[in-house]
Amino acid sequence: MTSSHSTPHARSSWKVPASIVAKRTSNPIRAIVDHIKVKPNPEKSMISLALGDPTLFGNFKIHQSCTDAVAKQLHSYKANGYPPSTGYMASRQAIADRFTRPDAPLTGQDIIITSGCSGALDMCIGVLCNEGDNILLPRPGFSLYQTLADSKGIEVRYYDLLPEKNWEMDLKQLESLIDERTATVVMNNPSNPCGSVFSKQHLLDFLAVCDKHHLPAIADEIYCDLVFSGQEFFPLASLTTTVPVLSVGGLAKKYLVPGWRVGWVSIHDRNNIFASEVREGLNSLSQLILGSNSLIQAALPDILNHTDEAFYHDTRVELEALAKLSTDILSKVPGLKVIVPQGAMYVMIAINIAEFKDIPNDIIFTEKLLGEESVMCLPGSVFQCPNFIRIVFTSPPEVLRDAYQRMAEFCARHHV
Ligand SMILES: Cc1ncc(COP(=O)(O)O)c(C=O)c1O
Repeated sequence: MTSSHSTPHARSSWKVPASIVAKRTSNPIRAIVDHIKVKPNPEKSMISLALGDPTLFGNFKIHQSCTDAVAKQLHSYKANGYPPSTGYMASRQAIADRFTRPDAPLTGQDIIITSGCSGALDMCIGVLCNEGDNILLPRPGFSLYQTLADSKGIEVRYYDLLPEKNWEMDLKQLESLIDERTATVVMNNPSNPCGSVFSKQHLLDFLAVCDKHHLPAIADEIYCDLVFSGQEFFPLASLTTTVPVLSVGGLAKKYLVPGWRVGWVSIHDRNNIFASEVREGLNSLSQLILGSNSLIQAALPDILNHTDEAFYHDTRVELEALAKLSTDILSKVPGLKVIVPQGAMYVMIAINIAEFKDIPNDIIFTEKLLGEESVMCLPGSVFQCPNFIRIVFTSPPEVLRDAYQRMAEFCARHHV
């Protein structure tokens, strides 16, 4: 056996590099937002419409029954140990019972509880893709997808969402990206950042492409059921008996507790395509961090079973009112074009750059808006969608009105 001081790689100094994985891991939001050097206008109060966290202003709160459910677990002293890495069976069963449907049946064995929906996405991408494979991601899309793919050495190929068609997927272009190294496709419905909701027919058309190319799908359905009047949410897995689907969800949005860090993977696999390897692979990956927080997991059966239906209804109604307020005000601002949201908590707004005298792109728009009006929103470039901005409309109406008034004055000042 060679002694450590004679191995060729032994260090001769304290030069300690970060790993390749760490170096290729970066969040596009941070990469762009951290470069914004402009400070907010000290004469105006700061309003951030940038963070997809519905708890920020205190107007959206989890239902009392959920808080009680967690308190019950805390005081029981029974949920302080390590849960199984895939989650407590009773909690997995509760998720299955809540989301099972005759056209997309689930048992407790089909659920893996994760650390937030982010953890679920990490596991799904990790189990389906090898380094050097490619993955199809939506553009515009939630930036974590790219971060996870880059980190794992997976090539990202973007398929376009079309603003003129309520952000439907460009399925022709999507299909043209597929080759023998395409491992999976991520779809997100309802969408962050678009606030769009796909129709049944559009999802069927998407599934037809997956079917034709034997592509398993990852359905990011964290905003499930957060849809506005006239829209219906269809779980992707409920529309296919042939395409295997890993659906991801969690407590963050519908239950209004992103900080509780509980998400899940639902394995929809009617034809046992995942039986030989992928299920076991998910099980193995769950052992990397041994699952999510025990208290919140243990409270899941009560959270899912005892929350009054009125809570979900009221959340939807409130979000829809804020979406309408945003659309009504901002669609009258010259230079901006609102793509009317159909669900979730976001609206994308196109900036007609040609109508502005000194704003060449979305990043400068965002910087100047912050510097002059102390209003922060995210530039579309963060989502691979230049010359748009994304607004999170979960702030109270009076805050939104104030922010939109300032945006209108800002646009008027810079308009040609
Ligand atoms: C589309 C989408 N997927 C996943 C997540 C991550 O959810 P979590 O906070 O549970 O990790 C988010 C959070 O904003 C999201 O917008």
